[in-house]
Amino acid sequence: MAHVIVPPGWRLPERMAAPKELYLNRRDFLRRMSIGGASLGLAACSDRVATIAPSGGGPGHEMGGPGGTGCDANPPSDPLATICAPPNPDLYPASPNPNFVDPPGTLPYEGLTDRRLVASHNNFYEFIGNASSVHSVWGFTGPFRIWPWTVEIAGEAEVTGRFDLEELEREFGLEERVYRLRCVEAWSIVVPWTGYPLRKLMEKFRPLSSARYVRFTSFLRPDQAVGQRTQPWYPWPYYEALRMDEALNELAFVATGVYGGALPKQNGAPWRLALPWKYGFKSAKSIQRIEFVRERPSTLWADVWPEAYGFYSNVNPWVPHPEWSQEFEEVLGGPPRARTELFNGYGEYVADLYDPELLTYAS
Ligand code: MTE
Repeated sequence: MAHVIVPPGWRLPERMAAPKELYLNRRDFLRRMSIGGASLGLAACSDRVATIAPSGGGPGHEMGGPGGTGCDANPPSDPLATICAPPNPDLYPASPNPNFVDPPGTLPYEGLTDRRLVASHNNFYEFIGNASSVHSVWGFTGPFRIWPWTVEIAGEAEVTGRFDLEELEREFGLEERVYRLRCVEAWSIVVPWTGYPLRKLMEKFRPLSSARYVRFTSFLRPDQAVGQRTQPWYPWPYYEALRMDEALNELAFVATGVYGGALPKQNGAPWRLALPWKYGFKSAKSIQRIEFVRERPSTLWADVWPEAYGFYSNVNPWVPHPEWSQEFEEVLGGPPRARTELFNGYGEYVADLYDPELLTYAS
């Protein structure tokens, strides 16, 4: 499998490109596409063998020619060359939080996933072009500019407006937590994230009691993200959401780094969510907007294929994906077939948030 690019199963052939009138109403179009089922959704499991593309072999040249230096080199020279120096370098490496040094649960734990593997096996559809796969996402990130980065806070909160990421980071301080990440595609990794509890961020903006959900929106920059240009059938920008009590849970984490340094671009630089009890797609990357809302918002994958990707999407071995079982997972760099645990092993933190009935279907 090394260096062989297998097109993921969801990729639409050219002949199915969206007709103009359908594209103008994208959500409606996505619903129609999902009636057919399997063709549109998260990448197929068959494309899971971890490989690192050869140095300089990233397909960044498709982005409009070489350019940039350092972390902005296009194409990047290596999966780890996409790490830009953080604006607060003195905050790295952060001290480990003693409560999250080892992941809980009974899954085999053979230590942290190799950091090159974490940087070279990614789901980040903004950077998945027509000729790429999970193994080459990093190679498309060259044109993505991450500093300076602001986040817009909106909706039902006392404090709203634009905030600089580097100032928030300094205000809250940083810590390290080792979490498991279980992708809905049945692979998993164990990662030392650097960041701060999402709760600290939420509380700063003093959400009103009317705020029952919080919505996260990633960036929209088709000029920098090949996937946003070549896959117009996705309702960009990427959007996700949590119930307020989920966002305030002790586990919900804002990640600004991994392995003691800043995040590689392909892992969601300059910041992303890390929600270890939920399938990985709930952990939105490169967030630019946070909105407190009254009603339950829709989420990108639920709009694309509601039967497969529900709002809660807690890790649950008893509820299969329409196309594959969720009973087992491949721990990347570790056991190829480990038994998946309810809530990814984090039940002691989150089980009481949910009605047990929710656990019996893809909610
Ligand atoms: N966030 C954005 N903006 N775009 C994406 O495509 N993919 C999700 C999630 N966050 C995604 C995203 C999925 S499906 C997974 S499994 C994780 O990111 C993968 O994170 P990793 O590449 O750092 O392992």
